[in-house]
Amino acid sequence: MVTIQPITPEFAAEVGDVDLARPLSPEDLAAIRTAFTRYAVLVFPDQTFDDEQQLAFARHFGPLETTVFKLRKENKLRLHENLADVSNLGNDGRILETDNRLRLYNLGNRLWHTDSSFKRLPAYCSMLHGRSIPPVGGQTEFADLRAAYDALDEGTKRRIAGLVAEHSLMTSRARLGFTDFDETERKAFEPVPQVVVRRLPDSGRMSLYLASHAGAIRGMPRAEAEALLKELIEHATQRQFVYSHRWRVNDLVMWDDRCTMHRGMAFDDQRYKRDMRRATVSDVAPTCEQMGLAVAAE
Ligand SMILES: [Fe+2]
Repeated sequence: MVTIQPITPEFAAEVGDVDLARPLSPEDLAAIRTAFTRYAVLVFPDQTFDDEQQLAFARHFGPLETTVFKLRKENKLRLHENLADVSNLGNDGRILETDNRLRLYNLGNRLWHTDSSFKRLPAYCSMLHGRSIPPVGGQTEFADLRAAYDALDEGTKRRIAGLVAEHSLMTSRARLGFTDFDETERKAFEPVPQVVVRRLPDSGRMSLYLASHAGAIRGMPRAEAEALLKELIEHATQRQFVYSHRWRVNDLVMWDDRCTMHRGMAFDDQRYKRDMRRATVSDVAPTCEQMGLAVAAE
């Protein structure tokens, strides 16, 4: 039977006594689901599996996303199309040089975000496996957006209830000065509506839903929206809401994209190889639909 070791009382836990590369018993899967609902981030140390085994584990939680890299200029994929390549490596397995477009694009992962909020149907959860890691730096930080919501004052909760933000991958990349998108990418990354506050159907808890992909809020002047989103992200990423994960080789970390944000920390990416592979499970419905909001197309 799996063992669950909380890292903090309500956020992030380590899961032991399980080999995810092998078929899971219904009891183990149920225990993992229960822990995931409560802790939102689960760390499974010492998991050795190949890409197919990682994908098979992920499929227990729903249909898998196809990586956005498929849509992009550099569409020769290093990995399976259901795996997002979170590495600093090119197709030849060598470190990407400083001016490589893919490297610059991936720098967006250093900003607080949740995966795929720029898709109308965003992610439910992500599972990232560390195949090789730098000896220093390169941590992943996670923020608990449920605890951050709970800690808001009542006035702010009232002010943000029912707000709809627009998320686009181009918004987060533009924050880093990356605006070099072609027509195909512009079309693929058109802004999509997402609620700012959501209720999680499994736990019943309320959560913020934020990312650096969000720029506009419908019905609000752009500058006011930017200021509000910045304040909310600053609030939500205070240290008391954050767990910083120091990677070990063969860690699998699984997080709930509906109620957390994360960011990758810097490391010497010209010196060390970081090979990380992410499987991502789609949510059941667009966030506005889940919250019962009718949203007009723009
Ligand atoms: Fe991410």
